Amino acid sequence: MPAKISIIGAGNVGATTAQRIVERGYADVVLLDIVEGLPQGKALDIQESAPVINFKTTVTGTNDYKDTAGSGVVIITAGLFRKPGMTRDQLLAANAEIVSGVIKNVAKYSPECIILMVSNPLDAMTYLAVKASQFPRNRVVGMSGALDSARLGTFIAAELKVPPEDISAWVLGAHGLNMVVIPRLTTVRGKPLTELLSQETIDKLVERTIHGGREIVDLLKVGSAFYAPSAGIAHMAEAIVRDKKETLPCAALLDGEYGIKDSVIGVPVKLGRGGIEQIVEFDLSAAEKQLLYDSAEGIKASIKQMGLK
Ligand SMILES: NC(=O)c1ccc[n+]([C@@H]2O[C@H](COP(=O)([O-])OP(=O)(O)OC[C@H]3O[C@@H](n4cnc5c(N)ncnc54)[C@H](O)[C@@H]3O)[C@@H](O)[C@H]2O)c1
Repeated sequence: MPAKISIIGAGNVGATTAQRIVERGYADVVLLDIVEGLPQGKALDIQESAPVINFKTTVTGTNDYKDTAGSGVVIITAGLFRKPGMTRDQLLAANAEIVSGVIKNVAKYSPECIILMVSNPLDAMTYLAVKASQFPRNRVVGMSGALDSARLGTFIAAELKVPPEDISAWVLGAHGLNMVVIPRLTTVRGKPLTELLSQETIDKLVERTIHGGREIVDLLKVGSAFYAPSAGIAHMAEAIVRDKKETLPCAALLDGEYGIKDSVIGVPVKLGRGGIEQIVEFDLSAAEKQLLYDSAEGIKASIKQMGLK
């Protein structure tokens, strides 16, 4: 029996994620949006590719949360995206309102699910999801590092002319300008990046990663990234549904790990059927820990702005 995954928000990220999941064949998908006809139309369009792509899973569209009932994973992509010149934090108030309404319905109809948060600003929305759902923290995880690390990996692969699968990149911290890239922990066929590239080149690649989302927004002008984000989301959802126990960079609510309490931040997380099965503590130097701590302090400010502290 395939698992049941619901995706709230049938926009670019939500619909592309639905396509990736059903094509991989590990879950049936229910796609929900407030706009009538949108999730139904996109779901039907994806479903009609089944005879060509040859998948047996199903995707259905709805405007009614009843159809999402009993989902094992619920992915939240509802909300506004960044327009050119906008920061992720400027989305805070608008998306906080949307996400708190969505989470109440998700918790009502799928009380045992794992929530996979995607809406921005990601870390603040993940914190809000924990509070609004009243789920234990292991059942609410955010997608950030999977995307940021994929971007860094892409840039390293191009720079060194190596296949992307040879690269293990780790981007931690906030999903935004305060993300924490630790080049020492990023390896190419097991060799640390710091032994392969000059500091100047590393700095250039890190800078491009930090502004990776903005680069796409500026090019598109009328939308933000969704192909790479949906790849990161589908990877995380698969690790959960298939109980892979894979360690990926994810946003999680910390309770003392890395010296951080009561803030959501990107850290290495072992993902399995239980959601966050372990927060993996890398051996960081004092300076690296400080970067992560400072990044978390920035998120606490957003949490305060939402009136949650
Ligand atoms: N975490 C990440 O790394 C990451 C990456 C990309 C995008 N995002 C975020 O994901 C979100 C979606 O991006 P997108 O490009 O798909 O935007 P989009 O505008 O294409 O889609 C958003 C969808 O949400 C729907 N929606 C709005 N309010 C709703 C509600 N109350 N209930 C249900 N659906 C609702 C809209 O009708 C729309 O279809 C944005 O907040 C964006 O910033 C996060």
